[in-house]
Amino acid sequence: MAFPPAFLDELNARNPIEDVVSQYVQLTRRGSNLFGLCPFHSEKTPSFSVAPDKGIYYCFGCHKGGGPVNFIMEIEGLDYPDAVRFLAKRAGLEVPEDAEYRSAYKKQERLRNLCKEAARFYRQELFAPGGQAARDYLVRRGVSSQTVSRFGLGYSPDAWSALLDTMTKKGYTNEELLDAGLALKSQKGSCYDRFRNRLMFPIIDVRGNVIGFGGRVMDDSKPKYLNSPETSIFNKRKNLFALNVAKKTKAGMLILTEGYMDAIALHQYGFDCAVASLGTALTEEHAQLLAKYTKQVVLTYDGDEAGQNATRRAIPMLERAGLQVKILRMQGAKDPDEFLKAYGANKFQALLQKSENQAEYRLISLQNKYDLSDDAQKVSFLKEASELISTFTTPVEREVYATRAAQAAGITPESMLQEVSRAYRRRTAQAKKRRERADLDVAGQQQPKEKGLRYDNIKSAVAEEQVLAQVLKEPALLPTVKLLPEQFSSPLLGKAFGLLLQCQRDGRPLSLGTLEGDFTPEEMNHLSAVVRRRDELVSEQALADCANVVRDAYEKSLRSGEDALLAVQQKLRTKKGYGG
Ligand code: UTP
Ligand code: MN
Repeated sequence: MAFPPAFLDELNARNPIEDVVSQYVQLTRRGSNLFGLCPFHSEKTPSFSVAPDKGIYYCFGCHKGGGPVNFIMEIEGLDYPDAVRFLAKRAGLEVPEDAEYRSAYKKQERLRNLCKEAARFYRQELFAPGGQAARDYLVRRGVSSQTVSRFGLGYSPDAWSALLDTMTKKGYTNEELLDAGLALKSQKGSCYDRFRNRLMFPIIDVRGNVIGFGGRVMDDSKPKYLNSPETSIFNKRKNLFALNVAKKTKAGMLILTEGYMDAIALHQYGFDCAVASLGTALTEEHAQLLAKYTKQVVLTYDGDEAGQNATRRAIPMLERAGLQVKILRMQGAKDPDEFLKAYGANKFQALLQKSENQAEYRLISLQNKYDLSDDAQKVSFLKEASELISTFTTPVEREVYATRAAQAAGITPESMLQEVSRAYRRRTAQAKKRRERADLDVAGQQQPKEKGLRYDNIKSAVAEEQVLAQVLKEPALLPTVKLLPEQFSSPLLGKAFGLLLQCQRDGRPLSLGTLEGDFTPEEMNHLSAVVRRRDELVSEQALADCANVVRDAYEKSLRSGEDALLAVQQKLRTKKGYGG
């Protein structure tokens, strides 16, 4: 989906980067730039900068950067076209949508309506005579009728085309039922209901649209849960069950569970801040979604091996999204649902208050691995614990947890602290060595921070960066640069240069911010870094020098290409006995 360049220019002109950003970040002027606390990572001193003249933002701390559209993508969690639409709306601009978008949007609207109708149908079926077994099941699992209506639970009849027939009567096509993930196609080509004889959990996005379903069997058959597949309106990586309800909580946190039933039970017992992932592992997108609604997430994954692994995976992801993470450890029950039924809300509240930060969590997990009454195991525990504790950032943390570990193992806090500081010194010495090695490796330092981007020819790439940074600062100098995009050693930098030439030819404004649609967010991060880092003086001479470096490298690479070709030809000749 491409928007016309003229529209994008207008969009950028009407959404100055400093205005867009300052709706989210408090900015203070320093010279020609503005600074504030980065909204994408947590920090105490501002390293987030906005350069109005360049139309970009860039964080010197987490290296995110780009134009206004990138900023909105990042902070609102939108994809490129939706971020453009968001900014258009903000500026009161009409988006010139193409027919394709209009029809795609209409199609999705139809699917959303279809899902809503389906949820209504399943709900009616729950209270119809055929829903008796499902109602009994809900009673058996202690789900109140209030909970049933709060989450719009339903029942899919034990038939092949109950939903299909009803929705067809309402004017939906088989195609649409397939697209919504509600129907399947048999080998013979006929359609049938995906969900049959299951308790139905509608999945509702934060805007209140039904986008999919989870369906649970009411006996021991498999699979226990069947979920809607990914569809054009249902992205599992970006949605969480019950967030539509939990986002209104006043609890100041969100509780993240693994199961539909866990989230539902928590709500029923008064914890209106519970959400569940959708039968998939937690993603970065989930973390960012959570971060929009809260600062603190409590993980209540199952106590089994899989649950603990999922916890370990989730912690850094949530922390990267700027969330404070706590881990609730359950004993005597497999999951929150079972715990609440067995011990009640007060006991769960107590667990919640006792929930551990990640330092405690890791230390206690370690402790549980060993039998501390056995001397040999005790020694292993202390060794591993001192390694772990030595990674904690502040001296206070190290002291507190060293003391705890010492108490657990029955040794004096002093000797444990000694162990920890030994491990700490070893660690810092290693880190120093690594830093020194990295300093030597200057070339390595010049490599892009973004994963997946690498420079093949550092010397040329550095000059290429300088060329870009200078022409962006002084667009009038662009015509003096005697370089072609294909002479750049870095395809990314070459592409940016080519687009700038194109902009100039088309009489469009020359700013990095207007190019954001042509690059992925990661590429934009890097390009923003380039023009902010290389904030040096611009001169025609400097520019010509850089261009020369690039051209030399290019010619050299051509020659070595020719040499290689020659060598191959030579070899072939020798092989065939042509002499040589
Ligand atoms: P669990 O097996 O832990 O079930 O799956 P549960 O949440 O305790 O469910 P109940 O209490 O038996 O009803 C946790 C989550 O994993 C997904 C579902 O999202 C479920 O809520 N899951 C599980 C599936 O998608 N498919 C399955 O077959 C099983
Ligand atoms: Mn369960």
